[in-house]
Amino acid sequence: MKYNEPMLCNDALEGKNIIVTGGGSGLGKSMTRYFLQLGAKVVITSRNFEKLQLAADELMQETGGEVLPLTCDVRHYEQVEHMLNDAVSQLGFINGLVNNAAGNFISPTERLSARAFDTIIDIVLKGSKNATLALGKYWIKEHVKPARILNIVTTYAWTGSAYVVPSATAKAGVLAMTRSLAVEWAKYGISSNAIAPGPFPTKGAWDRLLPGDLKEKFDPAKKIPLKRVGEHQELANLAAYLMSDYAAYINGEVITIDGGEWLYGAGEFNQLEQIPEAMWDMLEQMIKKKKK
Ligand code: HXC
Ligand code: NAP
Repeated sequence: MKYNEPMLCNDALEGKNIIVTGGGSGLGKSMTRYFLQLGAKVVITSRNFEKLQLAADELMQETGGEVLPLTCDVRHYEQVEHMLNDAVSQLGFINGLVNNAAGNFISPTERLSARAFDTIIDIVLKGSKNATLALGKYWIKEHVKPARILNIVTTYAWTGSAYVVPSATAKAGVLAMTRSLAVEWAKYGISSNAIAPGPFPTKGAWDRLLPGDLKEKFDPAKKIPLKRVGEHQELANLAAYLMSDYAAYINGEVITIDGGEWLYGAGEFNQLEQIPEAMWDMLEQMIKKKKK
């Protein structure tokens, strides 16, 4: 058994129909692949139909599963409703939603136009709200249960982060929505959880967060206690578990999968790991001497 191998039994998502927003690339595509391998049918959505169709063809060929690619800009509620109607009419019912679509880029906040800030808030916060509200209304009206929402946030949803302020602001809102609805909608059989990934290489994220030689200068692996970035299957394993009935009693949780990264950044003395072993004898003597 290896950490980057598929984890669940083969039929763990049999009979589930799941919408993955932003499912045509990056982590959304990796989660979709594994959901298919576990027996789910998956609707992938984004703004770019060509990309979705290519991903759907590739994933169906690879897994033998059923993927329905549907264009939908999550910023617009009517597009989300339209996408949901299409999904229901083609698959019969939907009982899972992964709010994975996102927009992000690094920038000093004072350089941002009001529109640039809005763009990120609209995709991440308003987009997750739109999909959640449309699905929630549908599940409650049609008595579809159990239903599961999984929101992909990030660890700076609670720490905040400089230079990605719109994203941090929006992800914090998504996390608040996750916990709020976990309580409010539990009575309808709808559970709501989140995953907070640390760095998992994707083209979408790396092009916008580590452009040019920033990849080398700020190699994310160096500030992770486990000294490596995440592998997509690790995240897909966690997401599949949280979308499956095995996670029936998990509701309102945010699970961090970051190799210890955010705590490393937070702990007052964590940087002391840079002190070589040989120096500790000297430091110990210095400290003891002061006591005398
Ligand atoms: C400053 C910028 C900018 C930049 C865009 N803008 N990029 N401002 N610096 N680098 C401004 C534009 O000038 C414009 O404002 C406004 O933002 C909207 O830009 P558009 O290109 O018109 O928007 P749109 O076509 O909707 O594209 C949205 C996008 C784009 C977010 C800008 O990057 C995108 O499509 N992203 C989707 C995929 C993505 O971002 N994936 C990464 C997720 S990674 P003005 O005023 O000029 O009109 C992630 C990881 C988090 O979330 C955690 C990592 C550890
Ligand atoms: P990605 O491949 O760029 O994924 C983002 C997806 O969102 C794309 O498929 C994009 O498709 C879609 N999207 C963007 N705007 C949209 C809109 N208005 N409507 C519908 N879809 C839209 O990046 P990723 O790294 O896989 O990110 C996936 C998720 O993981 C995001 O929520 C991100 O915040 C989170 N995350 C990633 C990392 C990481 O290290 N990679 C770390 C923490 C959290 P189109 O462009 O075709 O619309």
